[in-house]
Amino acid sequence: MVSTHTHIAGFSFDNCLMNAAGVACMTKEELAAVKDSAAGTFVTKTATLEFRQGNPEPRYRDVSLGSINSMGLPNNGLDYYLDYLLELQESEPNRTFFLSLVGMSPEETHTILKKVQASDFKGITELNLSCPNVPGKPQIAYDFETTDKLLAEVFAYFKKPLGIKLPPYFDIVHFDQAAAIFNNYPLKFVNCVNSIGNGLYIEDESVVIRPKNGFGGIGGQYIKPTALANVHAFYQRLKPEIQIIGTGGVLTGRDAFEHILCGASMVQVGTTLHKEGVAAFERITAELKAIMEEKGYESLEDFRGKLKYIEG
Ligand SMILES: Cc1cc2nc3c(=O)[nH]c(=O)nc-3n(C[C@H](O)[C@H](O)[C@H](O)COP(=O)(O)O)c2cc1C
Repeated sequence: MVSTHTHIAGFSFDNCLMNAAGVACMTKEELAAVKDSAAGTFVTKTATLEFRQGNPEPRYRDVSLGSINSMGLPNNGLDYYLDYLLELQESEPNRTFFLSLVGMSPEETHTILKKVQASDFKGITELNLSCPNVPGKPQIAYDFETTDKLLAEVFAYFKKPLGIKLPPYFDIVHFDQAAAIFNNYPLKFVNCVNSIGNGLYIEDESVVIRPKNGFGGIGGQYIKPTALANVHAFYQRLKPEIQIIGTGGVLTGRDAFEHILCGASMVQVGTTLHKEGVAAFERITAELKAIMEEKGYESLEDFRGKLKYIEG
């Protein structure tokens, strides 16, 4: 029997596929649809302390090889998601879900995380260090000093399972420097990658999204090689207690297979979920299982991280 069962932070999940933050996770209804699909779990939209409208529309566009977006963190505020997760803990005590969050300043991030720490939330928290779409706010994890300081402060009081969502890195030295920082903390996982920030998509003579004169985060097929490189680079560099969630460019079971081969313990689907709806989970899972069957793999452990190199 082929199984795509996985573990993150000691929690068990029937399937290694789930949504990526920001897609199909803004409302309770959307989250329930992911929960009741073939996905193993869900992650919420990245929550800020208060409700945010986000950037003016149009702010998302499906394009042939992926997507471009500049949403600007629209969300219903922390309490909306936390209340729903606390409800689910009662109604579905055997399942674990992810809460994504970040503040609009370090102070707000601490306020939010302290609230989560003080709550009865028993699930997994994903701190988004990589939103490329808030005008005037850099992607936190591109600033190693700030990231190190933030993590040191956070882990002084935050004792629940916590991972971080990372932007893509493009330089071997940056992989080394980032991993050296992350290895100093009791992180449960890193999630690679958020969209490739600030791309530009043009139709005829015009950009296709309004915010920032068309600059937006790129997802989908465009980004798979970068996503795989980040998953594998961190798999090679992080202490084994820090697991990897692979995100970026997953359209097919083959894409999910490659993320796992590079070291991912969980695989998230963003753009494809936006294009195809929650039925994507069933299709991608069936495709992944077919590949595993063909290769004689029964579990993800049989091939996770076992990417082959060309020797000599
Ligand atoms: C519309 C949209 C909104 C997103 N919002 C968030 C978000 O709130 N938090 C986050 O960590 N990533 C967010 N992302 C990034 C995705 O989670 C994912 O990392 C990225 O799209 C790459 O995956 P993909 O190639 O499957 O789309 C968003 C992506 C899209 C397309």
